Amino acid sequence: MSFGILKGKKVLITAGPTKEAIDPVRFISNHSSGKMGYAIAEAFLKQGADVILVSGPACLSISHPKLKLIKVESASDMYLACCLHFEEADIAVFSAAVADYRPKNIAAQKIKKDEASFVIEMIKNVDIAAEFGKHKLPDQISVGFALETNDELAHAISKLQRKNFDMVVLNSMNDANATFGYDTNKVSIIGRDLHKKEFSLKSKKEVAADLVKEVSRLVMNRELLENTFISPK
Ligand code: CTP
Repeated sequence: MSFGILKGKKVLITAGPTKEAIDPVRFISNHSSGKMGYAIAEAFLKQGADVILVSGPACLSISHPKLKLIKVESASDMYLACCLHFEEADIAVFSAAVADYRPKNIAAQKIKKDEASFVIEMIKNVDIAAEFGKHKLPDQISVGFALETNDELAHAISKLQRKNFDMVVLNSMNDANATFGYDTNKVSIIGRDLHKKEFSLKSKKEVAADLVKEVSRLVMNRELLENTFISPK
């Protein structure tokens, strides 16, 4: 299916986990595989969009003439890579599982097991999606993800509002065969009007196509509205 409206649009996508170094050989990370983000990148490319994919460490491959793939490790690297492309993005999709905290100090050498226990002091990472939300222009669209274990809808709506998303994709950890590592996912998409659209369990490729369809609808509505308000001579 082709939506045409996305042809030539610039789409910035974050994907995968981030790795936060503890010492030269150890890090803190999470279970994100990056599959959802890469599937979203492919779905936008299929619609003729230009995609910038900022990916944390993922064992996936992707290539396309209209794709710029930027590989990063930490949340700070991901933020810096995104900053370079925020301005030019018509659409931003934040699907990365960004580490919320990082070790305050990275040991220069491998930490030896001399102590019976030790504490790692963690400091907050920048919230990439929220930063984009603060500065985004009225014609830029942003989409976020919310992976929740409880009070799913309330948390997703809170993220939608806090991070100034135009829509949020809700994942529940309580759904079987969805989320981390699976090839399938089950999501709901919530818009600014707080209308919740539920989708069945399907492949991440199909979920990505559903998401792209929702985004193209939003782009179309905005462009229609814009043209309606341009007064004819
Ligand atoms: N996100 C981001 N940068 C961060 C943290 C999150 O860009 N440092 C984005 C994610 O990519 C996702 C959305 O924000 O689109 C929500 O991420 P999530 O981890 O679910 O939310 P948090 O704000 O980190 O809240 P919490 O972990 O407390 O649920």
